[in-house]
Amino acid sequence: MNENSKITIAIDGFSSCGKSTMAKDLARQIGYIYIDSGAMYRAVTLYCLEHNLISGDIVDTETLRSLMNDIHISFRLNSQTGKADTYLNGKNVEDEIRSMKVSSKVSPVSAIPFVRTAMVKLQQEMGKSKGIVMDGRDIGTTVFPDAELKIFVTASAETRAQRRVDELKAKGIPVAYDEVLDNIKSRDHIDQNRAESPLRKADDALLLDNSDITIEQQNKWLLERYTEAIQKIKT
Ligand code: DC
Repeated sequence: MNENSKITIAIDGFSSCGKSTMAKDLARQIGYIYIDSGAMYRAVTLYCLEHNLISGDIVDTETLRSLMNDIHISFRLNSQTGKADTYLNGKNVEDEIRSMKVSSKVSPVSAIPFVRTAMVKLQQEMGKSKGIVMDGRDIGTTVFPDAELKIFVTASAETRAQRRVDELKAKGIPVAYDEVLDNIKSRDHIDQNRAESPLRKADDALLLDNSDITIEQQNKWLLERYTEAIQKIKT
């Protein structure tokens, strides 16, 4: 039996499936730490943009490789929102990393093997004491293959595009639905087909299609799965 009865929860799936909302809600309810692994790839992408390392979809990987030790990513609690903000080299980049400018370049950056190796190492360090909910693309397959609870989330591309448009609109960032839909489809394609840690459901992950369920139904379902997973380690 696990002494502290804490487990690792891995939530993977397609972009804009509401993974982070569900992971955050679950972590808050059960007193776990939430870690947004996508924010880390977004922060590396922002760094690349700030250092002019991306031209079109081509990343200057050699220069990036030489600068990897200069990239420091951390999360710090924002006392006003009660949520963790992402910091890149000491600067709060939480809003900047959600912009379309970053979203449109994050897939090629996150496909670079040495970027993934560095992020996975950081993620494994952050989760070594368990008691975490981490969301991403390869958490149940590569980062924490032994996670006690793995969820793989999916929803139609159209549902996801509308959600992302609504989310950005609520933040006062107007975007065109078609542009967001194209971005989601192209990210799906790159995420599923990259050579390094492609997006795929781990064999032991539970599938959740949330196209037609409410957030409340989803939260209830998740909490039940968590309770089952905890029961399992106690027996
Ligand atoms: O979850 P998100 O949309 O914020 O993630 C941004 C990008 O980062 C996404 O296009 C794929 C990539 N990503 C990844 O490759 N592996 C992860 N564990 C998390 C995100």
